[in-house]
Amino acid sequence: MCGIVGYVGRKKAQGILVEGLKRLEYRGYDSAGVCVLDSGQLLTAKCPGRISDLTAVLDTRPEMDAATVGIAHTRWATHGGPTEANAHPHVSDDGQLALVHNGIIENFLALKQVLTAKGHEFVSETDSEVLANLIAELYRTADTLEDAVRTALHEVTGTYGLAVISRREPDKIVVARRGSPLVVGVGDGEYVIASDAAAIVEHTSNAVYLNDNELAVIRPDGMKTLTLDNMPVPKDLEQIEYSLEEIALGGYEHYMLKEIFEQPEAVRNSLRGRLNLRETRVQLGGIEPIGRELIKTRRVIFTACGTAWHAGLIGEFLFEDLARIPAEVEYASEFRYRNPIIPDGTVVVAISQSGETADTLAALREARDRGATALGIVNAVGSTIARETDAGVYLHAGPEIGVASTKAFTCQVVVEALLAMYLGRRKFMSQFSLGELMGALDAIPDQMQTVLTQNDRIGEVVAGLIDWDNWLFLGRGYNYPVALEGALKLKEISYIHAEGLPAAEMKHGPIALIQEGMPVVVVAPRCSTYDKVISNIEEVRARGGRVIAVATEGDSRISRYADSVLWVPDCPAPLQPLLTVIPLQLLAYHAAVQRGCNVDKPRNLAKSVTVE
Ligand code: AGP
Repeated sequence: MCGIVGYVGRKKAQGILVEGLKRLEYRGYDSAGVCVLDSGQLLTAKCPGRISDLTAVLDTRPEMDAATVGIAHTRWATHGGPTEANAHPHVSDDGQLALVHNGIIENFLALKQVLTAKGHEFVSETDSEVLANLIAELYRTADTLEDAVRTALHEVTGTYGLAVISRREPDKIVVARRGSPLVVGVGDGEYVIASDAAAIVEHTSNAVYLNDNELAVIRPDGMKTLTLDNMPVPKDLEQIEYSLEEIALGGYEHYMLKEIFEQPEAVRNSLRGRLNLRETRVQLGGIEPIGRELIKTRRVIFTACGTAWHAGLIGEFLFEDLARIPAEVEYASEFRYRNPIIPDGTVVVAISQSGETADTLAALREARDRGATALGIVNAVGSTIARETDAGVYLHAGPEIGVASTKAFTCQVVVEALLAMYLGRRKFMSQFSLGELMGALDAIPDQMQTVLTQNDRIGEVVAGLIDWDNWLFLGRGYNYPVALEGALKLKEISYIHAEGLPAAEMKHGPIALIQEGMPVVVVAPRCSTYDKVISNIEEVRARGGRVIAVATEGDSRISRYADSVLWVPDCPAPLQPLLTVIPLQLLAYHAAVQRGCNVDKPRNLAKSVTVE
């Protein structure tokens, strides 16, 4: 939920730290701070608010400019409100060290009591400050900072991605992780550490990803990685997959709009090397190692949160429809505590854009501990979920910075379709049927392009409706999860309340909500239940609802029933969500812009939810 950055090298640290925070601001943005080490002094500046507020404070602190070592933090409050005292970095009460932390120390109250009894004082309400004073307490008798950090972490229960600097060893940063992500960018005589490679990529594309319960000791002349038990850990240098350009706005007003328009290219990247049209074969290198085992799969459980859960619901339909494998989708936060039944032959598929969502990670571990084979559908390369699954498929959607997930959703559905086709072909699907579906999937990026041409018109359709505080979204079959996703997008960025429903469920209660002029979005492309959906539209209109329909190009009937029609090209039903979701993403985007909302950083939300 927070973003941490650190720098040690020859360059001035402050600018690098602040730029890094800007790249991580989507992780949390209610307060921020920087602490640098100069001439053995810890110099700290922090404040509630955005990075821009912090920059204003730093402009009044010229003495912090020269330092070449420092740490920084952008916060998402878990313990204590967004105040200056609760903002990070936290300096220990003896003034010896400073710490930034992403995660939750669950036993902080107990530790705080012990430390208070030893005479320590606390100025904030945070769990993180307790960790700072605990390390400081141990540092009094420890030879090195890393020894103090290691010993302290043995006392801690909970999650952390942290970085610590100290006056006693001024050219050193010690970092550690358990449950929260941490990457070390390896440059030439310099190191940039961060929660996410987005803050590193403009300095170097060489990175070391820490695993749980690992520590790194970093100086300008080198780094070493250790376990909490002080055992050396050899680490591979990995390449960061995306460039700075890919992270920049690229001429769009918001990351969300940029990422909506990136979907054709993102889907092409998801399909690259995986659709062998010449041999009518789906190739998924990431699951080949367990390919034979997967064919024997007797049950699939998709687990995820939020938008990824909606993709999981489509995955359930795809696996049952195309691979004839019994499937279900589970909210990760419920699944992890529900004592689930995991018989032999169960495969759990963890779906996550960030690869760091705490509930999804915990659900994955729960299922693995009970014997399930674990597959990952993940975007962030090197993320925890990716590394803790038996096999997986990366989305290759590129970095998704807008908090509202868009291209990750469509690429998650693409990967699910590839997996279902891969398994379906090995179980019963004919080469002919597979070839047809592969051809249709290969055509999707161009079809997405045509849907995107309606962007301005969708803005006009929304203009007359943004004052309504309640909307309904309806869909059937593969488009029911799309209705759920459309409602979520509208809620999370425009703050309009919306409900997504299977269209036929409306008359069992929610129809009572409909009144004259109320916006009702109906996902109604040509498919086996089209006539049923038309009847649902008539039920809405009979009560005065204002219908915005998403329909198949060339459908001459729909205009008689809908006030506005947003068109999508025709494609097979299993692939329709890839097209029908786009007008709903744009509806939400324009509603948020026209209501003056902060599209890329909507209130109360963060891009990666790393605490439960
Ligand atoms: C979607 O727009 C939201 N940002 C949120 O629901 C998100 O999908 C959820 O938190 C899961 O995130 P993940 O895919 O990174 O695991």
